[in-house]
Amino acid sequence: MMKVVTLENVEVQFRKNVLLTNVNLTVNAGDLILLNGDNGTGKSTLLKVICGLLRPNNGKVSVFNQELSKGKFASDTAVMINAPQFIGNYSGLENLCALARIKHKIDASTVKHYMKLVGLDPENKTKVKKYSLGMNQKLGLAQALMEDEKLILLDEPLNGLDKTSKIKLIDLIAKIHQEKPDKTWIIVSHDDSFNEICNRKWQIQDKELSVSE
Ligand SMILES: Nc1ncnc2c1ncn2[C@@H]1O[C@H](COP(=O)(O)OP(=O)(O)O)[C@@H](O)[C@H]1O
Ligand SMILES: [Mg+2]
Repeated sequence: MMKVVTLENVEVQFRKNVLLTNVNLTVNAGDLILLNGDNGTGKSTLLKVICGLLRPNNGKVSVFNQELSKGKFASDTAVMINAPQFIGNYSGLENLCALARIKHKIDASTVKHYMKLVGLDPENKTKVKKYSLGMNQKLGLAQALMEDEKLILLDEPLNGLDKTSKIKLIDLIAKIHQEKPDKTWIIVSHDDSFNEICNRKWQIQDKELSVSE
């Protein structure tokens, strides 16, 4: 089984406060992991550590067999952490096309395809600053999915979505998970709907991560 993520004895502190300690985990290719924990327990922080946005104070983080030393981001990884931020004066399509040009992996037709999948109209010229919370969230999801990365980290992906959009998004993730069984997911959510499609659950409690198979 190919290991995608390994954390060894990871500790995160902010000033003198220990937020996470003794975090040891392994993620295998094809896992769909549901991460849970009360507000402020460090779920978003853990995702940042895994993708290299935040260096832990102690411990070792490896993604796709590459140790994330200082300043290094995880390769082949897409993330949506907290409320995604975009350029307000651009439309949704313009924003995603601008981001797609960084890696040159996909063209506009692929961007449009993913916008439609998450329920956004790519031809909608509305500037993102006029977007509702749910539309902004969908744009973030399209961004996280569009480059078909091997590891996808989603932080509370259902935030701001109406009931129908939630069901559609869960179905979409389930479908991609089924069609691309080697793709690996770590999803922060309190929504029970993910129980059916996840194969493992993590819980942050008392500054530690417990893993239930
Ligand atoms: N960059 C930072 N500097 C200082 N404190 C932070 C920083 N990032 C997060 N925290 C604190 O760490 C705690 C956990 O934050 P977070 O990981 O966002 O929790 P969760 O996503 O589980 O709700 C919070 O108390 C937050 O204020
Ligand atoms: Mg959070």
